[in-house]
Amino acid sequence: MAKINITINNIPLEVEEGMTILQAAKLIQIDIPHLCYHPDQSVRGHCRVCSVEVVGGRKLMPACATKVWEGMEVFTNTKKVYDTQKLLLEMILANHKQECLTCQRNGNCELQNLSKRFNLTTPKLPNVVEKLPVENNATCIVRDLSKCIKCGRCAKACREFQGIEAISYTGRSSHFKVMSAFGENLEKTDCVLCGQCTAACPVGALVEKDDTDKVYEALQDPTKHVIVQVAPAVRVALGDAFGMEKASIVTAKMVTALRRLGFDQVFDTNFAADVTIMEEGTELLERVQNGGTLPMITSCSPGWINFMEKHYPDQLAHLSTTKSPQQIFGALSKTYYPKVSGIDAKDIVTVSIMPCTAKKYEAARPEMGRDGMRDVDVVLTTRELGRMIAQAGFEFAELPDGDFDAPMGIGTGAGAIFGATGGVMEAALRTVYEVATGKELAKVEFKDVRGYEGIKESEVDLNGTKVRIAVAHGLKNARVIMESIKAGKCDYTFIEIMACPGGCIGGGGQPIKTTVDIKKMRMDALYDIDESLPLRKSHENPQVKEVYDNFLGKPCGHLSHDLLHTTYQKADKKYTF
Ligand code: SF4
Ligand code: SF4
Ligand code: SF4
Ligand code: FES
Repeated sequence: MAKINITINNIPLEVEEGMTILQAAKLIQIDIPHLCYHPDQSVRGHCRVCSVEVVGGRKLMPACATKVWEGMEVFTNTKKVYDTQKLLLEMILANHKQECLTCQRNGNCELQNLSKRFNLTTPKLPNVVEKLPVENNATCIVRDLSKCIKCGRCAKACREFQGIEAISYTGRSSHFKVMSAFGENLEKTDCVLCGQCTAACPVGALVEKDDTDKVYEALQDPTKHVIVQVAPAVRVALGDAFGMEKASIVTAKMVTALRRLGFDQVFDTNFAADVTIMEEGTELLERVQNGGTLPMITSCSPGWINFMEKHYPDQLAHLSTTKSPQQIFGALSKTYYPKVSGIDAKDIVTVSIMPCTAKKYEAARPEMGRDGMRDVDVVLTTRELGRMIAQAGFEFAELPDGDFDAPMGIGTGAGAIFGATGGVMEAALRTVYEVATGKELAKVEFKDVRGYEGIKESEVDLNGTKVRIAVAHGLKNARVIMESIKAGKCDYTFIEIMACPGGCIGGGGQPIKTTVDIKKMRMDALYDIDESLPLRKSHENPQVKEVYDNFLGKPCGHLSHDLLHTTYQKADKKYTF
């Protein structure tokens, strides 16, 4: 890229052609105020809070949407700039339900931060916001449109990351709004509950449904035995909520925090991910050998399952029937665990900590339980766990290390990488290869399926049979794969699809702010965990062997089918989730 010379506040700097003023200013440690800008999204320039002066320009220019040019002279610190930015913020606040004390985003809100930065302690404009009812009757996502600042970041997340447009723009000028289709409850639209919009929202207008009270209640009930499982992607993101270095691996501190919060047993979803591989790998081999529906597509990601049920209901046979690790853990927690622990299943409360909002919906599906009991009782996102730890007053970064408990606390490296796009595929290949060929893998890494590229492809030789595989993340990419299947142009045998960009490490319930750069760091951290573990293949997990030897029998056997597999159904066209 060609270099050009500009000045910002009289500081000369050489920058790449094509950069915006906002990006150029960052190079000299100036953070120009912004609200509608998100580094991973296209730029619409809605809010104008980033207005700056450019010498020769008739009006102030939006720094997020204005590209630099040779000789450009920018000022971010003049009175005109300051007054304009402050007035724009005051106008936003005048139309905003200011309830910081009771707002989920209190302390991590971009509007609140800017108000503090501009010392907006005494509002000059009267508050005229229309107090709309909070949409709080859904399973996963709560919307408070009286807090919406119309930045459009949710709509862009939904369209640009997921290709869905369950939220979009309506009206012009003062009637401009960011709305779901026909103003409907999100669950009744094309929405798949992935939560990417909640992660993109700069304020508290779109948030995950908070279920922490249900967990507190269970923990305080002496008749209940409360166990918790933690998904692989949580341990490389939770530290963000406590200002630790991005993508820190906090597994051992997280275990201690959960134990100190009062959980009776702290288990690992990685164990269940290993069981998933045993089931899904066996299912794949059975489909290949017996002429089953191919390509087979992974089914761990509930946003992806919702997408299939709503958008491609005629293609459901391609989905693996194996439940997700969360639900496999849940089913075993109410069947196998009572058997080995001697605790009555009715007294067990199973809590999940997940990077994902759609996991709340998955756990609530009527087929995910037995005998009037849910397999997973409560699902918390990484953000909710962060709030519980903060509420308890733990100095998270200083906590001593802790270890997961038996009998569902050992996970292999294969289970750990489930949290990154390509990880389920790689984990499956490590097992499927050895089972199909009877040979030991010389090298366990399948690097072709790693990385942030939207769709990755490769080929594996299974005893002379070439198997074509593909990995996609983000539903926009998933749609490309599904269209090729529909058109009969797809020659893959096995496909991994994750709803969220980057996989679970970029899930809609992860700490805010999550960017592509942060997701890549989290991916690397998961591969580091994998490399550091003594066991890296699911079929070598001793606790997995035990559960098959003493309870399930064999993968895809009778009991596995009953407990660990599921069915999918076309979503009602009225989308009454
Ligand atoms: S969205 Fe931000 S500014 Fe608004 S009430 Fe919540 S914390 Fe306060
Ligand atoms: S949850 Fe996902 S699908 Fe639903 S509106 Fe938000 S981004 Fe779109
Ligand atoms: S809901 Fe949030 S992300 Fe969407 S427009 Fe409103 S403030 Fe922006
Ligand atoms: S941040 Fe630039 S216009 Fe909103």
